[in-house]
Amino acid sequence: MSKIPSISFTSATPAATGRLLITVGKDGALGTAGQSIDESGVLSKAMKAADFDGAFGKMLDIVTPHGTGLDVIVLVGLGDVSELNEQSWWNLGGKMSGKLDGQGKSSLVLEMPGEDKVSAKQATDLAAGVQLAAYSFDTYKTMKDDKRKKKSSAKPALAIHVSSASAAKKLWSGREGVAAGVMLARDLVNEPANVLTPIEFAKRAKALEKLGCKVDVLDEKAMKRLKMATLLGVAQGSRSAPRMAIIEWKGGKAKDKPIAFVGKGVTFDTGGISLKPGAGMGDMKGDMGGAAAVTGLMHALAARKAKANVVGVIALVENMPDGNAQRPGDIITSMSGQTVEILNTDAEGRLILADALWHTNKKFKPSFMVDLATLTGAILIALGDQHAGLFSNDDTLADNLFAAGQATDEKVWRMPLSKAYDKLIDTKNADMKNIGGRNAGSITAAQFLQRFVGETPWAHLDIAGTALASPKSDINKGWASGFGVRLLDRLVADNYES
Ligand code: BES
Ligand code: MN
Ligand code: ZN
Repeated sequence: MSKIPSISFTSATPAATGRLLITVGKDGALGTAGQSIDESGVLSKAMKAADFDGAFGKMLDIVTPHGTGLDVIVLVGLGDVSELNEQSWWNLGGKMSGKLDGQGKSSLVLEMPGEDKVSAKQATDLAAGVQLAAYSFDTYKTMKDDKRKKKSSAKPALAIHVSSASAAKKLWSGREGVAAGVMLARDLVNEPANVLTPIEFAKRAKALEKLGCKVDVLDEKAMKRLKMATLLGVAQGSRSAPRMAIIEWKGGKAKDKPIAFVGKGVTFDTGGISLKPGAGMGDMKGDMGGAAAVTGLMHALAARKAKANVVGVIALVENMPDGNAQRPGDIITSMSGQTVEILNTDAEGRLILADALWHTNKKFKPSFMVDLATLTGAILIALGDQHAGLFSNDDTLADNLFAAGQATDEKVWRMPLSKAYDKLIDTKNADMKNIGGRNAGSITAAQFLQRFVGETPWAHLDIAGTALASPKSDINKGWASGFGVRLLDRLVADNYES
């Protein structure tokens, strides 16, 4: 993985050597620490000369500032500090990430001129943003950084000088785990399908045992015994065997019912016999974005020792065309006993989720379930890449998800479910078919899933538009965003921790 800066917090004054970043308010207002560094007037002079107004995210480099022993000072604009919200700190961290010394230590004087001190929460949000923006998927770039490697293999590090340092240190061990969970999800989505097979994915999920999770991996035999025929039907055309990983984190009271997250993990989706067109098919290595988000979430929750009982279930298959692949027209009996006529083998996500949701509900009797899936191209037509589609049978759960989305900027938008839409997947040959018509494609997919959740409060997030080929932002520079980890970590933290 890329070089992610290690972060430390201190309340000491920074040494006058190396690379120093200083936060500055509107119109170049300096805080207490900034003023003492500016004794000689070098900062004020530079700001004036460069017309630097301290607007949010604007930066000014002052190289070998006169009268100091520093190599460079970077002034970082906060803008109007009364307008800063939670997301501003993540984004500010992202913006300044590129200003750090990639080979060594940098320091940041973090203060809000004219305001209260920067809180531990704000400082750690910024630090997490620094790390997320530094992420890049370079596992397979063998030539990269060759020259610099020779020079130094030192890791970047950022010391954040902030008055709330001791509280920030405590908070950071948990929040660093959330950032690591996002980056784990990104790694999984970026990883190519020849490497990340269902078996390899299950191994990486198993590694969460190191953080104190219990991880059970069901192989083909176990799934056959459980009669997960709609899942196995998708897998049967692939040389790679399917797996289901069940990840448990028990941080709550023993008697508390768990909450459950279920992820679609199609490690590659060719469409099967209903083969996809060739253009852009490479993106379908990311068709396990739901499973990646669930895995990253479980990492985050375990790393920050969340006080909740949580189950993460990931259904892992590869959808391939083959002499043994399932055909359009096949009728399969799902684990629930309901029969499904497969009319398009490219509508495979709902088939594996049908058994995964049913099994999760039956085995764990969770107080609610949320599934995440790169389920339909139609959700891109409806919402583009700015919101994930949210479908739910429970208004409270839907409202909580919406609020968590607003807070984390991993936004969701609620879409309808109803009997009239549900009818569109009826068929004369079986209990249901796996496609609706051309219209309302994301909704008919959700209606299909709803037939496998019983009365349990449930929400489905269609993340086909947000998890991959996602828009770049201050804290996401790459193809895979890790969408869902911060959203669901927040959902758990705000609503379900005792
Ligand atoms: N994995 C795709 C959906 C997808 C599309 C994810 C674009 C990410 C980006 C899914 O399995 C699929 O093929 N859905 C079909 C459903 C159709 C056959 C009813 C689709 O959206 O076209
Ligand atoms: Mn498909
Ligand atoms: Zn798919």
